Amino acid sequence: MSKVIKNGTIVTADRTYKADVLIEGGVIARIGQNLSGDESFDATGCYVMPGGIDPHTHLEMPFMGTYSADDFESGTRAALAGGTTMVVDFCLPNPGQSLLDAIKMWDNKSVKAATDYTFHMAVTWWGEQVFNEMAEVVDRGINTFKHFMAYKGSLMVDDDEMFSSFQRCSDLGALPLVHAENGDVVAALSQKLLAAGNNGPEAHAYSRPAEVEGEATNRAIMIADMANSPLYVVHVSCEQSHEAIRRARQKGMRVFGEPLIQHLVLDETEYMNGDWDHAARRVMSPPFRNKQHQDSLWAGLQAGSLQVVATDHCAFTTEQKRTGLNDFTKIPNGTGGLEDRLPVLWTRGVATGRLTMNEFVAVTSTNIAKILNMYPKKGAILEGSDADIIVWDPKRSKTISAGSQQSVIDYNVFEGVEVTGLPRFVFTRGELAITEDTVDAKPGHGEFVARQPFAAVNRALSTWKEITAPRKVERAGIPVSGV
Ligand code: URP
Ligand code: ZN
Ligand code: ZN
Ligand code: ZN
Repeated sequence: MSKVIKNGTIVTADRTYKADVLIEGGVIARIGQNLSGDESFDATGCYVMPGGIDPHTHLEMPFMGTYSADDFESGTRAALAGGTTMVVDFCLPNPGQSLLDAIKMWDNKSVKAATDYTFHMAVTWWGEQVFNEMAEVVDRGINTFKHFMAYKGSLMVDDDEMFSSFQRCSDLGALPLVHAENGDVVAALSQKLLAAGNNGPEAHAYSRPAEVEGEATNRAIMIADMANSPLYVVHVSCEQSHEAIRRARQKGMRVFGEPLIQHLVLDETEYMNGDWDHAARRVMSPPFRNKQHQDSLWAGLQAGSLQVVATDHCAFTTEQKRTGLNDFTKIPNGTGGLEDRLPVLWTRGVATGRLTMNEFVAVTSTNIAKILNMYPKKGAILEGSDADIIVWDPKRSKTISAGSQQSVIDYNVFEGVEVTGLPRFVFTRGELAITEDTVDAKPGHGEFVARQPFAAVNRALSTWKEITAPRKVERAGIPVSGV
């Protein structure tokens, strides 16, 4: 059964033009004028765009004594409802656990996925076993490795471990990712705040100022440079971190930055209204910041110094959040957003003139597919690409509300936000999953997308040169050892 999307305007990362799209066997078979198929979908007044790819989700992830509430079924259903047709989730080995066992766990969780998906691997500990297994992980089609510079005492890796892992990534043609916050300083500030009696959720924000993120981002970039590796910085939330990325890119280093839709739109006042539940539901790392930081992130998307927009979807119920009632450091860190990323970014970005439609497609889909090495299978409206397609109606609107969302949690951080720009139809590998408010997500439809190592260029482009043997330097005739 072929399908044809008719009378729409195709919007890709680089072009806007009128054409029909014919879908056969889950892929885009033809793009052209006056096409016909067994089934026809009317896109009059709509934009036909590559489905969103969320490069950063945590579905059913064990974290801070509990599991994130959305699993691959509810998570990918929420994704589809908002026009996202692929998620990239993090395999998270327990410290000491085999990376290959972690993949098995994620294989089991993801059988329920209604969208295609792929994995990043987290490097939560270091040793010969991890070093060796990283090659097998790459062979399994996972070529991105995440490092937590925060969460001291659990997931955090030290600089020497990160340096070793980055070098290994460079050798394997893999791309390292970092959660950049100075975990030692966060831990020290948290203890200081608790000792002074500040145990509420607003103290979470005080414990993680922009400086801890800026310092860690800069450190990770310098370490990646010395390891001759490119770098991808997840959830960039502040000017200090953006500045470090901008500076590195200006020098020619291959550093990518990923702001979240939450940080672009929600600010630190969310923690300050005295309502414990409201604030705790918004506890995530890094925390929401002020308008100056938000403006910096928007500017980065406009200028290209930041390349993608993610959600870091890691949803916890109010009850789960209340684990930290007497101690903010025990509030599970994370917020939702999978269903809302595209409509909110369209409303606050495209409709306000901050982003063009083509830039919208680039940062929600195409750039992600390119950076993660799955373009043009994903992230493209091209003949031969997977038919992950949204028919986007720029006139449909709604008010975001937990009452009508697909996520299983009992609130939404965007509650009350009005959005204009929503999907009319969503196709996942050619199958219709969304028709306006009707959700027909099929658990099990999703397939794992294997990604090849980065063959051509996987370097940091550094001018830094490793000195492997100490040299003797003559100074005024006196031999000086070392340099
Ligand atoms: O607070 C957050 N971001 N939770 C999810 C895990 C992570 O750090 O990405
Ligand atoms: Zn993180
Ligand atoms: Zn995350
Ligand atoms: Zn199917």
